[in-house]
Amino acid sequence: MATEGQRVVLITGCSSGIGLAIAVMLARDKMKRYYVIGTMRDLKRKDKLVEAVGDAYGKTLSLLTLDVCSDESVKQCVDSVKDRHIDILINNAGVGLVGPVEALSLDEMKQVFETNFFGVVRMIKEVMPDMKSRRSGHIIVISSVLGLHGVAFNDVYSASKFATEGMCEGLAIQLMKFNINVSMIEPGPVNTEFEMKLMTEVSKKEFVGADAETLNHFRTCYLPTQINLFKGLGQTPEDIAKVTKKVIESPRPPFRNLTNPLYTPIVALKYADETRGLSVRTFYHMLYNLGGIMHVSQIEALKLLKDWNYSQINCVQQ
Ligand SMILES: NC(=O)c1ccc[n+]([C@@H]2O[C@H](COP(=O)([O-])OP(=O)(O)OC[C@H]3O[C@@H](n4cnc5c(N)ncnc54)[C@H](OP(=O)(O)O)[C@@H]3O)[C@@H](O)[C@H]2O)c1
Repeated sequence: MATEGQRVVLITGCSSGIGLAIAVMLARDKMKRYYVIGTMRDLKRKDKLVEAVGDAYGKTLSLLTLDVCSDESVKQCVDSVKDRHIDILINNAGVGLVGPVEALSLDEMKQVFETNFFGVVRMIKEVMPDMKSRRSGHIIVISSVLGLHGVAFNDVYSASKFATEGMCEGLAIQLMKFNINVSMIEPGPVNTEFEMKLMTEVSKKEFVGADAETLNHFRTCYLPTQINLFKGLGQTPEDIAKVTKKVIESPRPPFRNLTNPLYTPIVALKYADETRGLSVRTFYHMLYNLGGIMHVSQIEALKLLKDWNYSQINCVQQ
């Protein structure tokens, strides 16, 4: 149970990846400022988290079952938290979907929205009224850079993150009146089970309904570029946990938080031209003209350039 002065943090989807890393980082906070409720839809998957958090288990971390796609599960979980008191809600649970739209079923698309969008809505509806009455709280969503700009063959996943960004942007304004902060964390590629699950799905699917030319673009341009991007630019779940902790501990938590500085110019491109033609054409060029040649070595070079830029900025600031 949380002790006096500790902030209660509830995180969804803690069985792996980013949710697990955030749970571990907050539960192992040196000053023990957080009491973490790590949730997952199947507690049989708890071992990785329990092992990673070590002796904090049972002290600053407890576990609860929670499926963000079920009204009942969400209510039961929040009801079982002492006084329903949650200071920080971290909406992390999410699923991906890639492929040509015409080859994806509406059921698959609805499942993505059910988790990534309505899952967040369900959690916020359950937790926000108590935050409002206490006039304090912080709602965080692990969104994505794909919630800020579309990427070919990720259309539906991107739409689910755009929808969440849109809803939260409105809420952020309204909730300022109640002293509640809303923050989006927007990672680029992160090396977790997420990509592996997607690739396993892709390898099993025939994508019936897509024409041969589109399928060829998907398999020969998109997939290799994607694999290289994860290898070359992928962050670790701990990188995302660090950014999230920094946002939580900020006196004025920002609304938007990109985690990978290499994506800042890509996102800025969208706002540099009001017609958005510039960013659409740039992505087209990257996928179809550079896609095949965006090898790991070139991505590594981009990374070095980014690190060099940062060291220059730091030199100027010091
Ligand atoms: N990895 C990336 O490149 C990347 C980039 C940008 C944003 N993100 C976002 O980061 C978040 C975490 O993803 P990750 O990379 O850590 O992937 P991950 O390792 O696959 O973790 C996703 C987590 O969500 C859980 N989950 C899925 N459906 C759920 C449901 N209905 N109820 C509760 N939990 C559910 C999974 O639990 P189970 O074990 O039960 O399946 C798992 O613990 C997602 O929102 C994702 O969109 C990821």
